[in-house]
Amino acid sequence: MYRHVLITGTTGSGKSHTAALITKRASEKLGLKVVVLDWHGEYTSLLQDYEYIDPYDNPVALFTGDPDDISVLSSILDLTPPQEYLLEKILRRNTNVVKSINFLLDYIESYPEESNWMRETKLSLHRRLSLLVRENNSTLFEARGKSDLKSLGLTSKPVIVDLARIRDVSIRRLYASFLLKRIAPSNPGREKNLLVVLEEAYNYLSKIQPVKPICEMLREIRKFGVGLIIVSQSISQLVDDVSMNTNTKIIHAVKSKQDLEVIEKSLYLDQDLVSVIPYMEPGEAVYSTPSLKKPVLIRIE
Ligand SMILES: Nc1ncnc2c1ncn2[C@@H]1O[C@H](COP(=O)(O)OP(=O)(O)OP(=O)(O)O)[C@@H](O)[C@H]1O
Ligand SMILES: [Mg+2]
Repeated sequence: MYRHVLITGTTGSGKSHTAALITKRASEKLGLKVVVLDWHGEYTSLLQDYEYIDPYDNPVALFTGDPDDISVLSSILDLTPPQEYLLEKILRRNTNVVKSINFLLDYIESYPEESNWMRETKLSLHRRLSLLVRENNSTLFEARGKSDLKSLGLTSKPVIVDLARIRDVSIRRLYASFLLKRIAPSNPGREKNLLVVLEEAYNYLSKIQPVKPICEMLREIRKFGVGLIIVSQSISQLVDDVSMNTNTKIIHAVKSKQDLEVIEKSLYLDQDLVSVIPYMEPGEAVYSTPSLKKPVLIRIE
């Protein structure tokens, strides 16, 4: 069975360094394909050998006919249920309206108003979606397209997707979420050979504003032979799916009480080990994985 990994710890505890080391080993020693969703744009200095992807040269498709597409949009752009309903209705009625994002926006604007309620809804939906074409955002998205990513299959080096190029945070979340959704079906042969590093996973998997299809993917993605390395400062602020669906956990220094509690419970840690966790140096970690009887202290080189 393919496994997801969680790397957690307070800021500066060494999470990204560890994720980069795993990336390097997985690629060089195990021959796995690795895609890094590089939230802060730091992996080009953490890795020596890589393929660089600029999001602005690699648009992702918004609408592929998958109902989850609307759910991703809705989670991130915070659509209300009526707005979501209207968008669904428009897309269902006429797939030609998504020739382009601008075409869809015009269509929404000219949509017949059956009631005041509808007028309000369509105007607010229009306003939300127009974020997609503001400034150079429209180069990040294709209105319609296939659900896979051709560019992924081309190289054996780790692929760094430089998300930090996208300044607007909700657009960055949107681009990265759609990319992640498209990655699994792109895995050729669906062999167990693709690893995705999800930096700053709070942006996709927070309890407060989860991207629902990504949470569901955590449970399903293993079927596609895709393993996730989930990197996050706080475990207690993430949806419970994360703790439940990662059976290897690398815990760097953690100071927050809430986080320590969740870690203690989910790893069944002894008090001795728990009391060490807040004081570990960068690169030191508690390592828990099914092949070990008990979690152990490790030092990442
Ligand atoms: N295994 C290690 N050995 C020695 N130094 C390390 C190790 N891991 C990380 N460091 C150092 O600690 C600092 C922080 O590391 P890193 O950026 O990986 O932390 P982080 O947990 O990802 O932080 P953030 O939450 O801010 O992203 C870096 O300067 C790095 O060089
Ligand atoms: Mg980091």
